[in-house]
Parts: sequence; structure tokens; C-alpha cells
Amino acid sequence: MKLWGGRFSKKTDRLVEDFHSSISFDQRLYYQDIMGSMAHARMLGKQGIITEKEAQQLVEGLQSVLDDIECGKVEFEIDAEDIHMNVEKILTEKVGEVGKKLHTARSRNDQVALDVRMYLKGEIKEIINLLAGLEDTLLDLAEKHLETVMPGYTHLQKAQPITFAHHLMAYFQMFARDIERLKDCYKRTDVMPLGSGALAGTTFPIDRDFVREQLGFAQISANSLDGVSDRDFAVEFCAAASLIMMHLSRLSEEIILWSSHEFRFITLDDGFSTGSSIMPQKKNPDVAELVRGKTGRVYGDLIGLLTVLKGLPLAYNKDMQEDKEALFDAVDTVKKCLLVFAPMIKTMKVNEQVMLRGVTGGFINATDAADYLAARNVPFRQAHEIVGKMVLYCEEQGMSLEELSIEELKGFSPVFENDIYEKISPEKCVAARKVPGGPAPQAVRKAIEAGRAYLVELKARQDY
Ligand code: ARG
Repeated sequence: MKLWGGRFSKKTDRLVEDFHSSISFDQRLYYQDIMGSMAHARMLGKQGIITEKEAQQLVEGLQSVLDDIECGKVEFEIDAEDIHMNVEKILTEKVGEVGKKLHTARSRNDQVALDVRMYLKGEIKEIINLLAGLEDTLLDLAEKHLETVMPGYTHLQKAQPITFAHHLMAYFQMFARDIERLKDCYKRTDVMPLGSGALAGTTFPIDRDFVREQLGFAQISANSLDGVSDRDFAVEFCAAASLIMMHLSRLSEEIILWSSHEFRFITLDDGFSTGSSIMPQKKNPDVAELVRGKTGRVYGDLIGLLTVLKGLPLAYNKDMQEDKEALFDAVDTVKKCLLVFAPMIKTMKVNEQVMLRGVTGGFINATDAADYLAARNVPFRQAHEIVGKMVLYCEEQGMSLEELSIEELKGFSPVFENDIYEKISPEKCVAARKVPGGPAPQAVRKAIEAGRAYLVELKARQDY
């Protein structure tokens, strides 16, 4: 007999039973569901809606359901549809008639909204911690490579010299924004919807604030229709997760490029690479490729969720049951990727000499040669033109700028003096870019210090 079977004279068709049941995936909410029910039961007792003794029996019964689930004694039933009705059914089998009082002044609509919010709050915290771990790794690596000069690119063409530390710190900034986005999303997830009922609240004299406090929420939802139909927080999470994945994917793409024979900037550790079943020489960056590939899944989760919600009239609609798989998939995927990413970059070997070699030969110091002239009163546009001609000449001769003799240089501009050679050496080109936010070691050291302070503060406050 269904928990809602009263007005039905016929059994649910077997096909429908399978079709509408969500227990296969929402069973992961068992803990939140039971915690929520315990708080609800205590509140019902305190308010005299049921007796204190009945409340006590419900809480103890729920604890015993929890214990059974956690030691693997429970087989969930498709017939009981979802986690909410499974728990209620098992509870009632345990405690008898009083179990049937648990659902007083509550609906599965506010119950499921509560469970998902509780679940996501926990996951957001975990993901922030994983991101913080990745940030630590980036800082450590950056600290080691403050002086490791490498080519910086635009259009994937050599552009200006930077350091590996500076490149890594760019990702540090991205993941710091991701943390801030999650903290912000947490605020809107931290809203307690129970008491919204099916859609129009309840006639019982419940104490919503008591439940809020028991469950550690910051506030209660302000409108019962919105309380059951709001999934903005899940969308926001999937959007934040999409950005995390996008950042991981861009770094993955660079790792894949850098580990190619053509670049050889890094060598991935054997533990984080895989081989080929046919080509004996192969060592593939599969982890980075999979992260890049899984980014598409998470974007899919976001778009799927947005699409499910777009046409829904207020308040609850069964379409909303489709929110869970998307959300769970986004959570699982982001966590898996973050977990494997930090050790992958921690263990990779950085080929400093190859990076440095990459700086020579591509006219990567051309801007610095133009800046040299401009600093000596040649208008920059004109300096640009002069150095452009030098590059053309060098290309024809198969030379680099620093290989030009001082006579040749003076032929392009009399302003050139012997100190030009020093000014356009890769190390000097980097060291001169000491503006805040620039790649000079002293500027990057400051960025690393600020990054460390940010993480210390984040870990100390845990205010999300
Ligand atoms: N399993 C449902 C879900 O995930 C719970 C809410 C069901 N409510 C309803 N009125 N059928 O959305």
C-alpha cells in the first residue's frame, strides 16, 4: 500500500513505478533526510502538535533507521518511490503507528528542498577545501619557480618572456575566484525551506526558527511557494562548478601541450600518465585529457538544470526531481577532478632549461628592444616600426635580435648603445616587468605572499 494510496482504486502500473521512482539516485540523501526529520519531529513535540513522548519515539526510531542504513542492513524499495518515503516506511515498520505522525505539517516538497540544501552545503565546504588544497600546491610550485623564465604566449605564438611562477599564479587567481563564488552560492543555499508545506505553508502552529536552528541554517525561506520551487542555488552551484571545470580544463590543455615532445616544458610523473596498448613508446597525459573532457559533462549538468526549470509554473512540479542527477553529477565530477589534479601537478617535473631555451629565437624580446628606444625618447610607434624592420632583417639572415652587432643595430637606429644586449636578455626582460601584477620575481613574490595570506584567512574563518 502506497503512503499516498488512499484516493487510488488501482495499483500503479509497473512501468510507471520504475519511471517515477528516484530512490536509485536520491538514496544518497538519507543522512540529510533523517536529520531533517529528527529536527521536524522534535519541533512537533515542542509545539504540542504531537506529544513529547511521541517525538522521542520518532527521534529514536529515526536514529535506528540511520544506524541500519549505515551498516548496510537496509534494502531500499522502488515501490516506496524516493528516499523520503523509504525512510518513513522503514521508520513506521520499526516504531508502529506513531511513525505515521512524522509527516504532520510537512510535505515531500519542502522536505526534498531541505535535503538538497543540506547536502549541497556540505559538498560546497568540501569543494572549497579541495580548491584550497590545489591553491596550496600552486603556491608551493610558484615559490620554487620564481626565477624560471619561460615564454609567454598570445595566439599561441611567443609573445613576451614571463616566469613559470607567474603563469601558475594566474591559475591561483582563477581558483580563488572560484572559492569566492562558492562562498557566495553557499549563502543562498543556507536557507531553510521546511514549513513551506506542499506550497502554502501549514495550519499547524509550527516553529520554523527552531528547526532552522537545529539544522544550522542561517535563515528561513520567506515565501512558501518560493520555498518549494526555488532551485536557484543548485543552478548557481552548477555554474560555479562549470567555471571551476573551465579553469581546470584550460590548465589541462596547457599540461597536455607542455608535455608534448614539441614543447617538453614538463614531464608528467609515471603515476599520473598512462600508456598505449599498441605503441610501446607512449606516455599519455590521460588525466589532464579526462579533466578536459569531463568539463563538458558539468556544462551539460548546468544547461540540463536550467532547461528543466525554465518553463515550470509555481510551485512544485515533478520535473524538479530531475534536478538531483545533474547536481550530483556536477558535485562528483568536480570533486574527482580536483582530487587528482593537485597531486598531478605536484609530481610533474618542470624542465627549466627547456623553458629557458623556449625564450630564445622567437623574437620574444622585441617589445623590450622597442621599449629601449622609447625610453630614450623615440616615440613608441616609431620604435615599433624600427624593431619590426630589425625582426624582418633577422628573419632573412636567420639570426636573433641579440645576435645583431652594434654596428648593425645603429644602422636601424643611432640610439642603440652597447647596454641594449643586457636590456634584451630574457632574465632582464622579466625582471624589468615589476609593475604590480607583473612577472618580475619581486612582483610575483608579493602575489604569492598575498595568496598565502588569503588561504590562511579562508581556513581560519570558515565563514561560508
Ligand atoms: N522525489 C521527489 C523529488 O525529488 C520528492 C518530492 C515529491 N513530491 C511530490 N509531490 N511528488 O522531487
